[in-house]
Amino acid sequence: MAIAYQSPLPAPYPTLSESQMRARIQAVRNHFGNKLVILAHHYQRPEIVELSDIRGDSLQLAQYAAKQSEADFIVFCGVHFMAEGADILKTGNQIVVLPDLGAGCDMADMADADDVIEAWEQLVEILEHDSIMPVTYVNSSAALKAFVASKGGVICTSSNATKIVDWALQEKKVLFFYPDQHLGRNTAKKLGIPLDEMNLWNPKKNYGGLSKDKIRSTKVMLWEGCCPVHMMFSAKQIDAIRTKDPEFKIISHPECAMEVVDKSDCAGSTDFIVKTIAASPAGSKWAVGTELNLVNRIAKENPDKTIVSINPFMCLCGTMNRIDLPHLTWALEQIQQGTPQNIIQVHEPNRSLAKLALERMLEMSRTSSK
Ligand code: 13P
Ligand code: SF4
Repeated sequence: MAIAYQSPLPAPYPTLSESQMRARIQAVRNHFGNKLVILAHHYQRPEIVELSDIRGDSLQLAQYAAKQSEADFIVFCGVHFMAEGADILKTGNQIVVLPDLGAGCDMADMADADDVIEAWEQLVEILEHDSIMPVTYVNSSAALKAFVASKGGVICTSSNATKIVDWALQEKKVLFFYPDQHLGRNTAKKLGIPLDEMNLWNPKKNYGGLSKDKIRSTKVMLWEGCCPVHMMFSAKQIDAIRTKDPEFKIISHPECAMEVVDKSDCAGSTDFIVKTIAASPAGSKWAVGTELNLVNRIAKENPDKTIVSINPFMCLCGTMNRIDLPHLTWALEQIQQGTPQNIIQVHEPNRSLAKLALERMLEMSRTSSK
């Protein structure tokens, strides 16, 4: 989904005070009780996380959405592909609302469905159709999730990528991973695939900019996509932290570049980062390679530890941050007035196919921990 247009909020929302908004949000919550749930990704603003019923990483939020049966409304404070996932996995007739339609994911937008289908057609022209396993990171449109399902492929999140990529590599000779080259590379490397057997597919070029021989020698084909937020961390920054204070441990998200993950003491999903730091002894020092709202919250929740960002000039995920109190207040009041806005609905035929792939992922990740 390219970033969608969100109309400016009508009066009085832009001028309400924080306490007015909190009171209005609470009034809607009291009205609906357990008929309305607010889900928040770990990168949401502190006030949004505070007002949510549940917070988590992409996998946990998908699992939670799949279990919803009481609620009539799921208000998703995250980005568009996550809300699509909730709409696909919901078990009843719940309405899924994204409080700001501009909350897309820059990485997901780097893989356009037509480009991926064209890449697939070029790949099967050179490799045997049966030898390729497409794997999409959950940060992708419903159309791309449907596409992997139509080709017998799978979806992964950052918390189950190792398990799912491992399975995919055992099933087929070649892995076609999109849209995040870094998660794909970091995971395949962890599973022992040499770097010279991984190639980068440039969607702007014919045959991804690769020779036919290069394509034939590929074990893991990585889409040239990335998360601009996680590209802001570097190995140099890690060196600087360790030089200044060797007691710092480094923890990063696998969307970071390979050099960053390689230099880290550990890497994993947002929830893995939260839990690892929470479980560390008092006095621990951590430099964290992920979005700043989360780093700041971990610091606040672990006052007995020193928590910093790997990048001292780190910024937030701009699209996640579009969900703020005015948009949440507006979205909730629209629901209460019987005119819900920003409803996220995935239509057929993508819906059934994407559901198949997401349910398969949930089933496969049941025993996955990281
Ligand atoms: P998690 O699944 O680890 O929460 O990651 C989602 C994401 O978008 C990270 O940038
Ligand atoms: Fe997308 Fe990156 Fe933001 Fe995660 S941090 S939602 S991958 S743009």
